[in-house]
Amino acid sequence: MIPLSLTEIASITGGRVVGPETSDAAGTAGTGSLVVDGPVVTDSREAGPGGLYVARVGEHADGHDFVDGAVALGAVAALTTRPVEGVACVVVDDTQDAFAALARAVVDRLPGLGVVGITGSSGKTSTKDLLGSVLATAGPTVAPVGSYNSEVGVPLTVCRVEPDTRFLVVEMGARGIGHVAYLTRIAPPRVGVVLNVGTAHVGEFGSRAAIATAKSELVQALPADGLAVLNADDDAVRAMADVTDARVVLVGEAADADVRATDVSLDAGGRPTFTVTAPQGTRTVSLGLVGRHHVGNALAVLAAATELGLSFDDACTALESARPASRWRMEVTERADGVTLVNDAYNANPDSMRAALTALERMGEGRRTWAVLGTMLELGDESAALHREVGEEVRARGVDELVVVGEAARGIADGANGADGHGVLGGATPGVAAPHVRVLPDAGAAEALLRQELRPGDVVLFKSSRDAGLRLLGDRLAGPREEQA
Ligand SMILES: Nc1ncnc2c1ncn2[C@@H]1O[C@H](COP(=O)(O)OP(=O)(O)O)[C@@H](O)[C@H]1O
Ligand SMILES: [Mg+2]
Repeated sequence: MIPLSLTEIASITGGRVVGPETSDAAGTAGTGSLVVDGPVVTDSREAGPGGLYVARVGEHADGHDFVDGAVALGAVAALTTRPVEGVACVVVDDTQDAFAALARAVVDRLPGLGVVGITGSSGKTSTKDLLGSVLATAGPTVAPVGSYNSEVGVPLTVCRVEPDTRFLVVEMGARGIGHVAYLTRIAPPRVGVVLNVGTAHVGEFGSRAAIATAKSELVQALPADGLAVLNADDDAVRAMADVTDARVVLVGEAADADVRATDVSLDAGGRPTFTVTAPQGTRTVSLGLVGRHHVGNALAVLAAATELGLSFDDACTALESARPASRWRMEVTERADGVTLVNDAYNANPDSMRAALTALERMGEGRRTWAVLGTMLELGDESAALHREVGEEVRARGVDELVVVGEAARGIADGANGADGHGVLGGATPGVAAPHVRVLPDAGAAEALLRQELRPGDVVLFKSSRDAGLRLLGDRLAGPREEQA
């Protein structure tokens, strides 16, 4: 973090400094002059020298119980709601409010910082990673690996900013109205990217229209001299041009997109190549990422990066060099025995299922394909129908072997079999043979099956919502990972 004394942190958060009874470190100037310049963490195990530990009080645990652990790892102070004996604390009424205020103060202290907010139903983390790696070629960039998109994740991200940071890329997630607006107050973006409005979390929102409203809060928060990067191929996103004061850049494959992709093709590994036409020029771009859905993500990255001062050519070159950063997103492993594993099991919703199955179809040309699929969570009343639709997609994509993991995901099997769940022939694509379908109780059963049946040349996709079982199954079948830089 940028260095801040405890006195400054107290003034930012409306708290008070409560010192350890006796502190050599505080010296004569007292506890208030202690400076935080290390990591700001909410998990005491991640604490480090010079850092600040934020003690959150959750449903299951009270962060105050772990203050000592953070101090043992070098944290100089804790942000708490009550004094902790022997520890320098900034004591506040509400740690969440204080944490948000602290993060906002960090952004405000660096007026030249280029802040980008990214939201959408699918692809936030992938796009944040991609933009992060492109911007990093131009200057110090904060865009931490992983999915830090909540009221905790966003301030954690912001507090990683150092005095020399030039770009900050913030993933902004929403599970309800007002969530993105809240995050934009913590990290006010100058560039806002809206990727898509899908059906992720529709159970919580109630409707796709409500999801669109929630995502539009990002572009509503942009200043007039800011830039809204909107997906031209998604009507709900395109419509957000009407609710922002900022300039608008449309990206996509639509004929009127300002940054447009044409001639999209996928190589045998499922990696896209396309022609991009932008106001600054035209170029062929080949991505090192798997899946057609990255074309739209890449266009958004180009629009944001050029707005922040990169040349079109440099941005395109950096895009081509980017490789997967956060784990379990279309993570491809080529095994020595000729089996290809695609571990996309970090999360799943109908849109990302479709995107992954499209990539599987391309990668599986002339090979046997497996889709090992678990349940999609948080889809509310539409859940059963949406699972069946994914099953129909599995069939339409010509998948050979479908392994449905968990009883909750059985609808996928019904959809693939062409049944509507009540034994009646339903909507599956006519004339396309159903895959061989098995429904298994858990990842363990799927592992036993795969270890027995996989043979050289097979391509296997793993995908489900927040199912550590499938993620780790994919990892086990992939074998030891080389350490990544
Ligand atoms: N633009 C996109 N459209 C549809 N699916 C996408 C897109 N970008 C990424 N995905 C897929 O969505 C899933 C979640 O990706 P991720 O980047 O973690 O999104 P988020 O952070 O929004 O949850 C992955 O399976 C990924 O391959
Ligand atoms: Mg994410």
